[in-house]
Amino acid sequence: MPSTPPASRTAVLVCQGRAAADGLTAADRFADPTALPLLRPDEREAVQQVRDGAPPPGWRQRVDYETVRASAELMVPRTIFIDDAVRARRCPQLVILGAGLDGRAWRMPELAEVTVFEVDQPATQRDKRDRAAALPGTPPRFVPVDFGRDRLAGTLAAHGHRADVATTWIWEGVVPYLTRAEVTATVAELAACSAPGSRLVVNFQSPATSARVGRVVARLLTASTGRSSVWANEPWRSTWTPAAMAALLGRHGYTVTAGENLLGTARALALPVRHARSLRHGQVMVADRA
Ligand SMILES: C[S@@+](CC[C@H](N)C(=O)[O-])C[C@H]1O[C@@H](n2cnc3c(N)ncnc32)[C@H](O)[C@@H]1O
Repeated sequence: MPSTPPASRTAVLVCQGRAAADGLTAADRFADPTALPLLRPDEREAVQQVRDGAPPPGWRQRVDYETVRASAELMVPRTIFIDDAVRARRCPQLVILGAGLDGRAWRMPELAEVTVFEVDQPATQRDKRDRAAALPGTPPRFVPVDFGRDRLAGTLAAHGHRADVATTWIWEGVVPYLTRAEVTATVAELAACSAPGSRLVVNFQSPATSARVGRVVARLLTASTGRSSVWANEPWRSTWTPAAMAALLGRHGYTVTAGENLLGTARALALPVRHARSLRHGQVMVADRA
């Protein structure tokens, strides 16, 4: 019997990145006031240091600081691109696939009349519910699904999702953690319950040796502090070229209407760039169903 994965640590890291940037980077375009409240007190320490621009003296704290700072750099263009795509086509339903500690259900006023579903593994959802208990606003419907084991379409339907009503799908920061077979199966499942007018916003990683090397270095750095890396239980399993992703979506009735890498997004927004290579291999794509 395969074991049940524990609550996601990568979800915490990206939430830390949003909390570190909230109101400081591109303040006219990016804000996530839900991020800090979703973090535990010990997870807020590095966030505060990044916000203060005060690198701590100890090695262990410095590794945390650099990791959160790099996450913030990635989160700002990624969030802005995805939020813009969600606002540009208003569907009555929104499904956030692999939602982790995403705060959109609480933070986006545009979703007030939208039925929001959050899909993730059970342990991560339990953790999220606990952390989100004090957030003001309407919580989403939590739908426990493991993309590697469960049927997405049927489970969503059991929680009230309607296949005859258009859906916006957000798939952010999840594809790298799935095998190619799991990605392919998930696209087939979501396509099976995508009414005309639906939109998919997907973020994925394109293949890059430098990114693989960077991740090994990050793991070694964390190991040097005597702790396990946030990626210990969540290794990267697949990368996709934009052409391969577009072809997969096309086979399931989705036409790509926009796509770029996060370096392009960051440059267009005049954001500060320190890790150009890492941004360049982060892809964001919008695909629509006519
Ligand atoms: C890096 S986090 C991204 C979270 C969120 N989308 C965001 O951007 O803030 C990756 C998320 O994917 C989820 N995930 C990874 N593998 C999954 C699977 N097989 N089934 C469901 N969720 C999965 C994790 O639990 C985690 O919440």
